[in-house]
Amino acid sequence: MTVLNSIEDLRQAARRRVPRAIFDYADRGSYDEVTFNRNLTDLAALQLRQRVMVDVSQQQLTTTILGERWEIPVGIGPTGLTGLFHANGEMLGARAAQAFGVPFCLSTMSICSIEDVRGAVQKPFWFQLYLMRDRSFNQELLDRALAANCSAIMLTVDMPVQGLRRRDPKNGLSIPPKLTLKNLFEVAMRPTWALKVLTGRRRTFGNLEARMKGTGGLKTLSEWIAQQFDPSVTWKDLAWLRERWPRKIIIKGILDAEDARLACEHGVDAMVVSNHGGRQLDGARSTIAALPEVVDAVAGRCEVLFDGGVRSGQDVLRALALGARGCLIGKAFLYALAARGEAGVTLALDIIRKELAVSLALTGANDVGKVTRDILIPR
Ligand SMILES: Cc1cc2nc3c(=O)[nH]c(=O)nc-3n(C[C@H](O)[C@H](O)[C@H](O)COP(=O)(O)O)c2cc1C
Repeated sequence: MTVLNSIEDLRQAARRRVPRAIFDYADRGSYDEVTFNRNLTDLAALQLRQRVMVDVSQQQLTTTILGERWEIPVGIGPTGLTGLFHANGEMLGARAAQAFGVPFCLSTMSICSIEDVRGAVQKPFWFQLYLMRDRSFNQELLDRALAANCSAIMLTVDMPVQGLRRRDPKNGLSIPPKLTLKNLFEVAMRPTWALKVLTGRRRTFGNLEARMKGTGGLKTLSEWIAQQFDPSVTWKDLAWLRERWPRKIIIKGILDAEDARLACEHGVDAMVVSNHGGRQLDGARSTIAALPEVVDAVAGRCEVLFDGGVRSGQDVLRALALGARGCLIGKAFLYALAARGEAGVTLALDIIRKELAVSLALTGANDVGKVTRDILIPR
């Protein structure tokens, strides 16, 4: 049995398990991938401060965010097409997250529907929303999320238009995935995936299926997004959402102090400092570079979450040191799911938990809720 004890191990296992078009869709960023790479290198460049002779026998890894208890300060962020990485992927991801005691956020662009995930878990989960040109569709999604007992809406605002991920058209990524002459060999080499996903029941956008029927079918994902997503969204639309959603609102895609201030003024409960994992504006700074000034601008008015490049417990610790209350994982989750399904997601969370516990102790700290910049070497 291969030993898998890092997110990179899970990434390599995922590469072997799913066809290239699917793997590349998750693994890469937009355009020249400058921002995608910055997310990783800027995190790695933050040096942790080794401290000794401190009593680290009692460790506190749990925290409370948005009134919910998190077993570790790491949740699963929304990712589109998750059910193509593993059959019933969103249901398995949500189950693994809930059993572990961390939040799971379902994407609008998921393969399993809101109702599928509701049926797979006991506790509330979060639902991520994109605002569409047709607001009656958003209203319908909000009604469904409320009926499914979702505790928060995560409004993603960094995709008014879509950044090009160059590999997707080259790889012929299609939804539902198709067997073609070009991918025949690759798919044949991945029989478990082919059997479960290609012939499975859930292969297209579970939340959108009914609506898509009237839109002339789906040619490519990017075409559909260009047709349906509303590029005219502004802060006033947050008020629209607030009037219709009685529970928590998290805004995702903040990378600028001015936007952070505006988000607070518009009454969000939390924000995610995010550049969509380097999949949108290429050339933008990394999320870890933006985090300190966002935290300063927010000044405690709402909770600040962080994502972008988190691949280890050390990365989580770095983000906490710069003021994040918790982190979300995107790619790390997908690698784990593709590699080993539900057990893989549990394993990924466990790997991160152990790395976090050890690194916390070796910096002489005891409580994830009390980590400060003191655990970093000043630059
Ligand atoms: C394959 C993939 C699909 C994604 N789909 C969505 C989505 O549907 N909605 C959304 O808000 N963010 C989406 N994201 C962005 C993630 O929620 C998150 O911001 C990002 O992955 C964090 O960076 P990381 O992948 O380095 O952890 C997606 C990311 C990936 C990798």
